Amino acid sequence: MALAGKHILLIIGGGIAAYKSLELIRRLQDQGASVSPVLTRAGEEFVTPLSVSALAGRAVHRDLFDLTSEAEMGHIQLSRSADLVVVAPATADLMAKMAQGLANDLASTLLLATDTRVLVAPAMNVRMWEHAATQRNIERLRGDGIEFVGPNEGNMACGEFGPGRMAEPDEIVVAIAAHFNPERVGKGALTGRRILVTSGPTHEPIDPVRYIANRSSGAQGSALARALRDQGADVVFITGPAEVRPPEGVEVVAVESALEMEAAVQAALPVDVGVFAAAVADWRVASASDRKLKKSKDGLPVLEFAENPDILKAVSQMGAGRPPLVVGFAAETNDVVENATAKRLRKGCDWIVANDVSPATGIMGGRENAVVLISEQGAEAWPRMGKDEVAVRLTQRIAEALEA
Ligand code: C5P
Repeated sequence: MALAGKHILLIIGGGIAAYKSLELIRRLQDQGASVSPVLTRAGEEFVTPLSVSALAGRAVHRDLFDLTSEAEMGHIQLSRSADLVVVAPATADLMAKMAQGLANDLASTLLLATDTRVLVAPAMNVRMWEHAATQRNIERLRGDGIEFVGPNEGNMACGEFGPGRMAEPDEIVVAIAAHFNPERVGKGALTGRRILVTSGPTHEPIDPVRYIANRSSGAQGSALARALRDQGADVVFITGPAEVRPPEGVEVVAVESALEMEAAVQAALPVDVGVFAAAVADWRVASASDRKLKKSKDGLPVLEFAENPDILKAVSQMGAGRPPLVVGFAAETNDVVENATAKRLRKGCDWIVANDVSPATGIMGGRENAVVLISEQGAEAWPRMGKDEVAVRLTQRIAEALEA
């Protein structure tokens, strides 16, 4: 956990991107940090104090003249209790106040009173971002030693395109981690390694509007891609139609069916490591129609199935050009270790990350995972932990294996 024991004072300004700061709180906690939230008056228009405090697990600070919170902790003390002050989203107004040294509400007062370093994630309309006044304020803030992450370019809530979108929560987490470990920036254990990750379910068409799918959310695959990227790997992320969005900073190849995923994997080779976390459908509909099937009096449609290519097996057994390390996943509902051990040998991969996906475990689609890592050396059961943490641990093991 990159931020274990760190305390972050998070100031949430008034912008549509404030909703992403709820996710940011979660991601910071996943990395071991604690978060004291501060919500500006304008911020309250976008997210509620209740959501923020519920996620942070502590009261949200809102008012400069709130006597109760002043009695508990004065603003000077609040501003100095943190290891880092993060402003996300930072509006044009908040940055202008910072640049001028104004202190007319709790957020600006904290920012003036603090002797802690400050990281700012700007979010605003593209014209406001490009305005000479904003750019002048940014120059001044940089000169004052303020750190920045983002903004990104993209479609904005106001319908325009350009720079101004707040950095994604995981990019902000990376920037925070880089703040605490500047010597590690660009020197991750996997720098220079090309790693392929498959993720998510596949959709197997029945006809142009219907398909067969499975319950994979893509959460574990996304978490892995993020953790590998954080260690400097060049990640090719081949994903089926997943619920969870791919992380920033990886090469995303979006596919639908197993056949498309196979083609994308072949095109991505050669790689140093292949991680196959996708829940690929075992069968596709052989009789898929290129027209929508109609109800008919002649009875119900009969679907015929054909076996899909086993992508993991093909890569594991490809001989020349095989990635030096191939990692498969096994979702089992019973006899996890026995089944996964047999699967490792059958497929010919180096490791299998096995887990129990019986409904009672809540793992499929959930935030946590309990895995057993199966290799030539045997089975190693890991305690139940967040999928992000499983990803970080597996990334560490991959880095160790490549170094050995
Ligand atoms: O055989 P089973 O589906 O249980 O194996 C799971 C592992 O094999 C996962 O790593 C999955 O990504 C991979 N797989 C694959 N191609 C398939 C089926 C599974 O790559 N057609």
